[in-house]
Amino acid sequence: MKLSIIGTGYVGFTTGVCFAELGHNVICVDNNLEKLDKFNKGESPIFEPGIEEMLKRNLENGRLSFISEIPPAVKESEIIFICVNTPPKEDGHVDLKYIERAAREIALSINDEYKLIVDKSTVPVKTAEKVRETILRYCASGAKFDVVSNPEFLREGTAIKDVLEPDRIIIGADNEHAKEMMIELYKPLTDKINVPVKFVNVRSAELIKHGANTFLAAKISFANLMAYVCEEAKADALEVLDAIGLDVRIGKQFLNPGIGFGGSCFPKDISAFENTLNVLGIDMSLIKAIQQINELAWQRFLKKVEKELWVLDGKVIGVLGLAFKPNTDDIRNSPALKIIEELKANGAKVKAYDPQAVEKTKKAIPDVQYCLDAYEVAQGSEALLICTEWDEFKALDLERIKNSMVTPIIFDGRNIFEPSRMREIGFKYFGVGR
Ligand code: UDX
Ligand code: UDX
Repeated sequence: MKLSIIGTGYVGFTTGVCFAELGHNVICVDNNLEKLDKFNKGESPIFEPGIEEMLKRNLENGRLSFISEIPPAVKESEIIFICVNTPPKEDGHVDLKYIERAAREIALSINDEYKLIVDKSTVPVKTAEKVRETILRYCASGAKFDVVSNPEFLREGTAIKDVLEPDRIIIGADNEHAKEMMIELYKPLTDKINVPVKFVNVRSAELIKHGANTFLAAKISFANLMAYVCEEAKADALEVLDAIGLDVRIGKQFLNPGIGFGGSCFPKDISAFENTLNVLGIDMSLIKAIQQINELAWQRFLKKVEKELWVLDGKVIGVLGLAFKPNTDDIRNSPALKIIEELKANGAKVKAYDPQAVEKTKKAIPDVQYCLDAYEVAQGSEALLICTEWDEFKALDLERIKNSMVTPIIFDGRNIFEPSRMREIGFKYFGVGR
């Protein structure tokens, strides 16, 4: 099928590359010329395992192209995906100006040749209806189109797998023709793997995405709450949560306590969902609790550091991990950055390293000593803070780390090490909830 993708950020880029890999012809559109230049050279502007090889392959076989203008892409395509960003506004509402702009531009390019518009960006309930109204307002009379919602559930770091082997495909469509086109779109995937495809109404599809992300965030905040209880009660949160997760009704995933969730999705989507509840007149206290516990997660971690080191002013503190999670270079809402800002505000000298996110962090926080590896960070440090659970950190030579530190103290914000082993080696060790 002939597709176009409008907005090639983490979501649009991965979606476009994966649809080309499945055999479709995909035109990606983005208004960021610097990014387009990279894409066209076969370079990925983001770190995402496997994506650059797939990008190169599909550029070479001619199934994938990148351009800056919406009209030629719409003209060439049967299905047009809207994947532009939907950032939060100051007042908690979602800023839908990019969605509206994309809808308007699509409208000006459609005529009596039927087009299916697919909303993939995460948006509040009823947005697809607004997109439809906008297109109707600006399109030529007699233009034929439908708008459906097809939320994505991809995680950074495993984005390709999440797109090509999803747990489910959700299609919010109110019309048979649109449904058939979506079935054909996903056929190369559903022919290969067994994946449930759920047809729901458009509003339900929009709510499924916000509901799923809020539920996952609630699990993480519950795990963090349990970690605080265990710290005060002198129990081990990992033992407790592991056993709780053995109940198949609960499940073990997303029950890891730490320094809290970050990224471009959870914080934004939860605020957006809170706003939806507010607009609908529904009590928001569950959402507020999720957010408060998440803020407490990195703040409690920092309090432990302050309690142990007493005075931070002038101390050399090493931070391992800057990305909001491993296998990505994304630092949006990363708790590591909040921690670094606080350390600096208290006069500490911060050294930091991340396998992928140093360049992006340098732009956000320039006055930190960025290092080439974890060993350089440890050299001369009075404490090490682990903020992202990269595999590389799990495999460190801990004797070497210990010997190069001024005082061998580790605050493990992601529980990557076993406390007993760390104490045997000679570290003063602090995990989360243990
Ligand atoms: C974003 C949203 O945050 C998420 O909720 C939604 O599901 C999908 O889009 P992400 O892909 O991470 O996620 O956003 P971002 O990396 O900011 O990418 C948006 C892209 O759209 C950028 O490349 C930007 O240049 C492009 N864009 C934005 C346009 O091409 N035109 C616009 O008018 C606005
Ligand atoms: C999330 C959703 O998982 C995905 O389905 C959606 O499409 C986009 O938002 P992403 O933000 O890429 O994906 O990462 P995710 O793996 O969900 O992690 C989010 C944050 O939660 C990270 O900061 C991570 O460190 C944290 N987390 C996750 C925990 O603190 N504990 C856990 O047990 C799991």
